[in-house]
Amino acid sequence: MTNDGENVRLDPRWIDDQKGLVSREIFGSPAVHELEKDRIFRKSWLYLGHETEIPNSGDVVTRTMAGDPVIVVRREDGTIGAYLNSCAHRGVKVCRVDKGNTRRFVCPYHGWSYGTDGALISTNFDALYPEGTDFSTMGLIPVTRLDSYKGMIFGNWSEEGESLDEYLGDFRWYLDLFFARTPGGAQVLGPPQRFVVNADWKTAAINFGTDNTHVITTHIGPMTLSPTPFSPPELMAALGDAVQVSTGNGHSVSLVSLPGERYAHYPKELHDLYDAALEPEQADVLASLAIGVSTVFPNLSFIENTPTEVEPGVYMKGLLLRQWHPIAPGQIEVLSWQFAEVEASADYKRAVHVRAVNDFGVGGIFEQEDVELWSSVGSTTTTPAAREHPFVFSTAVPFLDHPVPGHAGPGSAYQPFVAEITQFKFLQHWNKLMTESVS
Ligand code: FES
Ligand code: FE
Repeated sequence: MTNDGENVRLDPRWIDDQKGLVSREIFGSPAVHELEKDRIFRKSWLYLGHETEIPNSGDVVTRTMAGDPVIVVRREDGTIGAYLNSCAHRGVKVCRVDKGNTRRFVCPYHGWSYGTDGALISTNFDALYPEGTDFSTMGLIPVTRLDSYKGMIFGNWSEEGESLDEYLGDFRWYLDLFFARTPGGAQVLGPPQRFVVNADWKTAAINFGTDNTHVITTHIGPMTLSPTPFSPPELMAALGDAVQVSTGNGHSVSLVSLPGERYAHYPKELHDLYDAALEPEQADVLASLAIGVSTVFPNLSFIENTPTEVEPGVYMKGLLLRQWHPIAPGQIEVLSWQFAEVEASADYKRAVHVRAVNDFGVGGIFEQEDVELWSSVGSTTTTPAAREHPFVFSTAVPFLDHPVPGHAGPGSAYQPFVAEITQFKFLQHWNKLMTESVS
């Protein structure tokens, strides 16, 4: 790190823990982008999809893991497989759809074919290969480790490191609140929306994990000023009591509660199911929950957005899961799914799907407000003058070592809600992973 008076430029240690400063260059540098592939994305558990996207034998979706194209498939035996979408012969993509159903993958170049278990079935010219050729070594390359947590499928390219359960750790308690709060669990509502944004993946990740400050500036229009405000005045007032929670490994969630009737913002027909599926402490948190927003390190985020009163006493909100795929320095492809409880009525599922897309779809009002601002960050990260001056997260510093008592869930809870605490902890964790192998 060099310290040129007050003009601090952080390199190669990008974070100043004492001052709460973060190098701008990490949000756009091609060199950082390359390093992240090895030091973050090859070692982390990356979200691949939800089991309800591929319910039947042969169902397949294609995804990426930091650039590597991946097939996720329900195999003939009902288990789930994930493979590099690249023919073992010359590398052509053997699955060329976003979503479909198949009994085998047939390469369109020279015709090698593979089963849903990834094994090579035929090269078309097996007899030409030398005697003793071991065709069992010529299948699709499996994702090194594959696991799921309550329907959420994750892959990891590294043989070493924590199991998925260890990696998620106490954050599983919070995932349950959103994706496993009924006995049937969560169900994806249709395919993901996909769109490209000129922003670094970390800009999006820390926005969701959690930049609470921007909500009352960036989104003040739809939150309070639109003809049908998204948030009742009581909810805006409740922000003062909200908490941001860190469970380690860079994972965090912000929770906004609104005292009132138990489960007031959720459909009545699901209330008993919440009590059946959740631990009592979890159910108590969900009972007053108005907004939840989160990032699971590195690039998975979700939000259950502000409740809207659709008729007196009846509220509705949408649950979205997003993934920020880095595709180039300062550029991401966003995948955005909508979810609802399996047991919810068809009408409710349709209503929350529409609500979620209207808010956070490609043209959604909140999405547009965020994306426009994120895109403008990129032009001031690696340019000659701007890169000399770090970004400021200093509001985190006074609170980092002072979690507040009394929070019902695991992890460390922090206030005030608008301090940049869990964002900075995310970046500290990023810095640890990026620098520990070179220190
Ligand atoms: Fe797939 Fe040749 S590249 S069969
Ligand atoms: Fe936003």
